[in-house]
Amino acid sequence: MPIVDEPFPRPARWGGPELARLTRMLGQSSLFYWKGPQTAALHEEFRKLYPFKHLAACSSGTASLHIALAALRLRPGEEVIVPPITDMGSVIGILYQQAVPVFVDLDPDTYNLDPAAIENAVTAKTRAIMAVHLAGNPCDMAAILTIARKHRLVVIEDCAQAWGAEQQGRPVGMFGDFGCYSFNDFKHLSCGDGGMVGTQSDQFGESLGKWGDKAYDRVAGERDISLLRDPSDLAPNYRISEPQAAIAAAQMGKLGAIVARRIEIASRLTAALGEVPGIRPPVTRAGDKHSFWFYLLRLETERFRGGQAGFADALRAEGVNLSAGYLPKPLYGYRVFQNHNFFGGAWPVRDFGLTTMDYRQVKCPVAEAILADSILLYMNEAFSDGYVTKLIQAIVSVARRLAR
Ligand SMILES: Cc1ncc(COP(=O)(O)O)c(C=O)c1O
Repeated sequence: MPIVDEPFPRPARWGGPELARLTRMLGQSSLFYWKGPQTAALHEEFRKLYPFKHLAACSSGTASLHIALAALRLRPGEEVIVPPITDMGSVIGILYQQAVPVFVDLDPDTYNLDPAAIENAVTAKTRAIMAVHLAGNPCDMAAILTIARKHRLVVIEDCAQAWGAEQQGRPVGMFGDFGCYSFNDFKHLSCGDGGMVGTQSDQFGESLGKWGDKAYDRVAGERDISLLRDPSDLAPNYRISEPQAAIAAAQMGKLGAIVARRIEIASRLTAALGEVPGIRPPVTRAGDKHSFWFYLLRLETERFRGGQAGFADALRAEGVNLSAGYLPKPLYGYRVFQNHNFFGGAWPVRDFGLTTMDYRQVKCPVAEAILADSILLYMNEAFSDGYVTKLIQAIVSVARRLAR
């Protein structure tokens, strides 16, 4: 019998509040987001936790980041500093805007951008830093903002994995120029797919919505119909719809309880696993609230027979739901980057001499080490105390059995 002898817990994610909103919504004459009561409610609920001046609900986290990047009016060949361990959604908008993702290395304990590495990567072409709060662990925003001010860079916070995370009591996303969020199916909060981008800046904020709505400025367009028919810029359709917004609005009220439970679970894991020789739990810096989308621990692999793969296999045999590492490789190692195959086999900014970036030459040793020696424990708020106890027993038992 495996030590974890019960099925992986699954929370009931949707229920009464979502149904109530959807039922009311079906009485509406339109399911379009513009002037939609569900989209308005989503903005209102979102603002209770994230009081941004300007908001644009949209179709995904990827869309929210692309909208922020488009609002910057990046010039072809300009650079955006990003971490190499993140979702493709962090970089898709950069590439579509003909800008260049510049990967810099990570802190070995928090797995977030290393401020010293950011500083080293700044060039005359750098326009922005994308701070990805990986797994819900806040980046070192004080250091990042200091660098940004010094070099006049914009800061975009990718909070897709960081719902409910805070630094010094302030929610992440509200430190930089833009906060971007995802409601995809795997996140703390979900409406299947959806996103939100917020900013306090009037310069970026007043036209935020148009960057996800084919450049139709519906707010201004109400006053001047010609703006609705005569777009000034090129932008994709990243609109949310009322059914998505209804569910997302109802989800916002659940965040506090979800994050509180995840923190309890993670705190127990860290207290127990920190005692096990050869295991390095993730580090939450003082003053930070890590919201634990997943729990990524590192192994001193030389201390265990079979290394990362052996540890992962043994844990799986004990009934633990995990992944060896998070991504198979850092983003720059993916085929699309190695082949610079961004636009049908071409990469115009490189082909026409606006960048010399060669992703085959990029190396971030800390990021590579993290992926090569970590174990990702899938987790959620439905874990009972008993389940966490079994999880800890399984990990401790495997560590003892495989110790050299
Ligand atoms: C860090 C990060 N950024 C961006 C995204 C993109 O979000 P979406 O899947 O909603 O487009 C994700 C989603 O997995 C993510 O984890």
